Amino acid sequence: MKPISTLIVMSSLFTTVAIAQNPLAIPPSLSGTNFNLTLQEGTTDFYLGVTTNTMGANGSLLGPTLILQKDDFISISVDNQLQDTTTIHWHGMHVAPENDGGPHSIIPPNSIWNPQFTVMDQAGINWYHPHLHMQTNKHVSKGIAGLIIVKDADEAALTLPRDYGVDDFPIVIQTKGFDSNGQIEWMSELDTSLMVNGTIDPYLDAPAQVVRLRILNGSSQRVYKLGFTNDMAFELIGTDGGLLEAPVNLTRYQMAPGQRADILVDLSSLQGQSLQLLSYSSEIGNAIYGSSQPGIMPQHTNNLVGYTSNPLNGTNFVILDLNIGAPTAAPVTTIPSTLITQNILAEGTEDITRSLTFSTQQNIVGPFLINGSTFDMGTINETIPLGNREIWSLTNQTPIAHPFHIHDVQFRILDINGNPPPPELQGLNDVVLVPGGMGNIRFITEFLDFANDTIPYMYHCHMLTHEDQGMMGQFIVTDPNNDLSENNGLERKILVYPNPSAGDFHVDISNLGDEVTEISIISSAGIKIKTVESPSHITEFNVNLDTGIYFINIQLSNGQILTKKVVIE
Ligand code: C2O
Ligand code: CU
Ligand code: CU
Repeated sequence: MKPISTLIVMSSLFTTVAIAQNPLAIPPSLSGTNFNLTLQEGTTDFYLGVTTNTMGANGSLLGPTLILQKDDFISISVDNQLQDTTTIHWHGMHVAPENDGGPHSIIPPNSIWNPQFTVMDQAGINWYHPHLHMQTNKHVSKGIAGLIIVKDADEAALTLPRDYGVDDFPIVIQTKGFDSNGQIEWMSELDTSLMVNGTIDPYLDAPAQVVRLRILNGSSQRVYKLGFTNDMAFELIGTDGGLLEAPVNLTRYQMAPGQRADILVDLSSLQGQSLQLLSYSSEIGNAIYGSSQPGIMPQHTNNLVGYTSNPLNGTNFVILDLNIGAPTAAPVTTIPSTLITQNILAEGTEDITRSLTFSTQQNIVGPFLINGSTFDMGTINETIPLGNREIWSLTNQTPIAHPFHIHDVQFRILDINGNPPPPELQGLNDVVLVPGGMGNIRFITEFLDFANDTIPYMYHCHMLTHEDQGMMGQFIVTDPNNDLSENNGLERKILVYPNPSAGDFHVDISNLGDEVTEISIISSAGIKIKTVESPSHITEFNVNLDTGIYFINIQLSNGQILTKKVVIE
């Protein structure tokens, strides 16, 4: 039992706006090609005198911003020092399924996961977060999340602010709930505490020039409608999938969980003044979490315990105070009128249209189903031929909007309830808010580069409570020309025999020519079962395994990993 005085202090702390102003924390940045992330537990004092247990990467809350260069071959070592098993997913990145960090790529406590891949994405903003089935909300809410900034030559050729923490700022917006002991409460809807980069009541000293905000809605559920004081205009230059063709001039931008926004704001004439970034949540439409009425009918509000009393719902609130100071020595003072040229997939060129329907028992709590099913780790919901160009048609029969997210690809929205998308939704995205009450979204995308007929990619609602309840499905991309998905000719040179086997098999790498540094056997759940360092030409394995499909990862000295399959009977 907490003493009553503490409870009173706590509740006033958690409901009062802006008692003190705190300088916005800027997560450290890491760049290069080798990254180390240590997932760890720790504590954070969000509120004066209240110690909250948190989780972070390389610290006790959130994680460093990873700055990646397109076309670099990178290696990320993720060391799990939590007491929980988890995974780390590179949200928005186009990587092979075995590097994607979905729920099958588990990292047990005290073990290291080391994905290696070439950065194929355009310049833009992605992020990383845990993705263990039914634990995603816990691990994200407790604090594990970080930004990924991808750079490329097209972006570098533009005059844009890109001095991290000086005129180019990471802005990770989250709401969390706290229980009466000051601990993060991820099971409820009581997300009454707003923070940016983990800072409550933040202010940012910004220079009087064009400033870039790299915004992530990293909240578990909440939608924001961003805008500045006095309806000051800003330019949206990029969305989830990177830069737009041209800046879009806006006074509001609605962001659902998981979405990113690359924004320029011209502070040139505001030196000595201050400005606020707000969420105009009173303007959010019905049937969206964050509005005054989160379902299509007023009575749906009662489904969510504490929703009406949450001061953030349906009212305008401050996200960040900006205090405008002197400009830097070499300020950016203009905003380019065009950005990059995008390759736009036209409707009519698709191979198929795939339809997904969201349903529930007429409430807004869930669980929610996709095509009548709840998520099952052992079921592949969709099989997609490599190279397919597809339209996905998403129909939401539930009374609340769901932010739909798909791994592997970026898509372009064709229409929303039959209407063409507004300019700010015409770029590339990997999250889209599908309206409640029979809302429909259609998007077009293509599934290129990566096929793996055993490890799936995910698609799901990015409201983490919904995802953890099973509003998720999985798809595999298969290469019709190669039933082992061995796209790389090198893999064909590796012999595995007998296959299937009872656990006694040989891996012959003598035809490979390249230097092999290690061979490891991985379960379909991603667990490393056995590793042989500096293997000879033929390695004999004699392993006692449950029946099923296992992977043999053959690591070359240049860092490349070749994958073969072995079936144990
Ligand atoms: Cu941001 Cu499947 O996740
Ligand atoms: Cu993702
Ligand atoms: Cu949902």
